[in-house]
Amino acid sequence: MDIHVDAKHLEQYSSDLESIGTDYTKWIDDVQKLIERDNVPASQQRQLEGFNLAQYHSVSEISQYVHEVAAASNRAQLHTAGKSYENKTIEYLKISTGGSKKSIFINGGLHAREWISPAVVLYLINQLALNPSNNPAIDSILEKFDWYLLPVVNPDGYEYSRTTDRLWRKNRQPPPSGSCIGVDLNRNFGFNWNPAIGGSTYPCSEVYAGTKALTAPETAAVGKLMRDIHCHTIAYLDIHAYGQMWLWPWGYTADVLPSDLEDLKHYAKVGANAISKKYNTKFIIGGDATDLYPAAGGADDYAKGVAGIQYSYTVELKDEGNYGFELPVNQIVPTGEEMLEGILAFAKELFVRE
Ligand code: ARG
Ligand code: ZN
Repeated sequence: MDIHVDAKHLEQYSSDLESIGTDYTKWIDDVQKLIERDNVPASQQRQLEGFNLAQYHSVSEISQYVHEVAAASNRAQLHTAGKSYENKTIEYLKISTGGSKKSIFINGGLHAREWISPAVVLYLINQLALNPSNNPAIDSILEKFDWYLLPVVNPDGYEYSRTTDRLWRKNRQPPPSGSCIGVDLNRNFGFNWNPAIGGSTYPCSEVYAGTKALTAPETAAVGKLMRDIHCHTIAYLDIHAYGQMWLWPWGYTADVLPSDLEDLKHYAKVGANAISKKYNTKFIIGGDATDLYPAAGGADDYAKGVAGIQYSYTVELKDEGNYGFELPVNQIVPTGEEMLEGILAFAKELFVRE
C-alpha cells in the first residue's frame, strides 16, 4: 500500500507505524517537488508543429493533435463519444485500413492524475495512424484489427489536475447536495454497481461512486460507445497508472470468476510478457478483485459484463511508486514503446487463437 502523508504529520505517522510493528520505506521524499518539476509554463512548451509526444499536454492540445492526425492519415477517422460534465468533447479515433474487421478499443485518462495514460494512448495513436518508423508489425496488425483509441475519458478532471490539484482523481461533477465535487468514474459504471464494494456513497470520498450507475456523463458516453461497437469488438483496454499490472475482471467480486478465465489469463500473459521484454519493466498479471482489490463499477467489468466485449482489461502503466503519478516526461516515450509491444503481441495472439 502506498500512503501519501502530509509533511507536518510525517513524524507522528512514522512512529505510529513503528509502534504497531509495520514495516515501511520512504519512496518519495517530497511529492510537491515532483509536482513543481512538471509544471512547465505553456509558453516554454513546444507547440504543435511536430507535436511533442514526450510531453504532457492540455486537453485542447490533445484535441488539436487528434484532429491533425485524422486530417493527415487516411487510416484515421475522428469521432465524438459524448460530452463531459463541463461540456468538453470526448473524442476518439477509429483507425482502420478499411473492410470490416474485429476491433480493439483502448481508452486512457479515466482518472485525472494518471497523466501517463493519455500520453501513452497518444503515442499509440501516432504509431498506429501514422506508423512513423514504417514498422511492418504495425501494417500487419492493421490488416487484422480496427482500433478505437480514446485518449481522455475524463477531460474535466485531467484539466483540473493540470491547473489546480495535481492529485485529483475524479471527474468535476457536483453531487446532489454538499460542496464536494467529483465522481470516481471507475466506480460509476453499471455492472453490479455497488458503492459498498471499493467505493463510497460519500461525495467527498476519492472513490465516490455517484448516486446511481452511469450518472456521470463521461461513463454514460463511454458505456454507450462500448455497447455501440460491441458486436465487432473483441477486446477492451482501460489504461491507468500506476502499478505495472495487466488485470482481468471481475472487479466487483472475488467470489465469481469469469467463465473464460484461462483465456483472459493467457492473453494478459502475452501482453505483459511483451511489455516486459522491451525494457525489462516488470509487469504482473492478475484479477482485479482477486489480486488487487475488489471495486465495483469499473469500466472493465462493464465492457465485459454489460457490453459483452469478451477480453476486457485494466492496464496499470509505470511505475511501481518511485515517482507514482508524477512519472517524469523522459519516461513517456519508453512507456509508450513498451505498451506498443504489449498491444501488438496481445492483438496478434488474439488473431491467431480466436
Ligand atoms: N486502480 C484501478 C481503480 O481503482 C483498478 C481498477 C480495476 N478494475 C476494477 N473493476 N476494479 O479504479
Ligand atoms: Zn486509475
